[in-house]
Amino acid sequence: MSIQQKLKDKLNQREASGSLRKLSVADKNKIDFCSNDYLGLARNKSLHQRIQEAYTNVSDIHNGATGSRLISGNSEYHISLEKKLASLFQSESALLFNSGYAANTAILSAIPQKGDTIIYDEYIHASLKEGARLSFANRFAFHHNDLHDLERKMQKATGDVFVVAESVYSMDGDFAPLLELVTLCEKYGANLIWDEAHSTGVWGREGNGIACMENLHERIFARVYTFGKGPGVHGGCIAGSEVLIQYLINFARPLIYTTALPLHSLVSIEESFRFQQDHMILQDSLHASIQFFRKALSTYPSLEPHFIESQSPIQAVKIGGNQRTRMVAIQLQQSGFDVRPILSPTVKEGEERLRICLHLYNTEQEMEALLEELSIVLQNTPISVEN
Ligand SMILES: Cc1ncc(COP(=O)(O)O)c(C=O)c1O
Repeated sequence: MSIQQKLKDKLNQREASGSLRKLSVADKNKIDFCSNDYLGLARNKSLHQRIQEAYTNVSDIHNGATGSRLISGNSEYHISLEKKLASLFQSESALLFNSGYAANTAILSAIPQKGDTIIYDEYIHASLKEGARLSFANRFAFHHNDLHDLERKMQKATGDVFVVAESVYSMDGDFAPLLELVTLCEKYGANLIWDEAHSTGVWGREGNGIACMENLHERIFARVYTFGKGPGVHGGCIAGSEVLIQYLINFARPLIYTTALPLHSLVSIEESFRFQQDHMILQDSLHASIQFFRKALSTYPSLEPHFIESQSPIQAVKIGGNQRTRMVAIQLQQSGFDVRPILSPTVKEGEERLRICLHLYNTEQEMEALLEELSIVLQNTPISVEN
């Protein structure tokens, strides 16, 4: 069979199981309940203007970085931004990556060695799992947020042990128990790798995330921050000790073998955090919206049990079944709400859901209207018994 035919067959299988992925352009006329632009910074005109001005004021003409950080791609601007990020994230040092995905694959593929053990929460992001797969270390998942299961696995682990968790889980929107994780890691001499993708910008002073907010940052081996969600721009960084950063510069392939972030991205990251510093009210307003949504949800007793408990901008409602979940999403979209279904295999079979993202710019009326519409749609499309 030709390779083209094999690929076609795979796509046909996906189509038949209702899980075929397609690219679609976000419809600006629908109310955004799906993007990661929690603080509205990706669409903020004043931030846009600040970025434009700052970029224009940089005298260098550098449309692209021209090479890897280790050859021609490094600049004074990269170095100075990393110093600022280290100060923001209260670490000895910080290292930029082209994306959170690159940062996650970098750290897990470069640090744990053969004979070491990676123990990760079963719900961590694909980029962390990818990094673990690229490593020669042994790897095991522990049940989501289950410290007993984690401890059982730590007791059996060999070599240096790396525990991987996220501040806010991207598909469920719930938090990891950071203090308990840190304490357990200290008990077993394990190293915590902590992904703050969905909390960067959303919690902490000037958007520096949950570890800093809870004053636990110094007890974590490595922290990953991303800039494409709350901060509304692009890129990522790893914060940790000077030794960790120097090691990554030497061994992290996603840093070494790629063209560095261009100047425009660097300016955007810097301006985004400066903007957040000047507008801490944005974070407070977002949290008020989350409270409002949860309170409004509590007035729908038939709906509430299907929502995963979450105090983050990610509110997931389990529907079950690819076809059914897709159908519910389509009906909401037809009513003007941009809500996207999360299907298997992205989540486990039976756990297919709508991932509702709340934003600063979603009004109370919009949130109420979404819940009302969802309750009507679900009455006509019963929730799966699997849930
Ligand atoms: C938990 C988590 N980590 C990392 C990433 C990757 O970050 P980026 O989008 O900057 O590549 C994501 C993106 O969805 C994520 O949800």
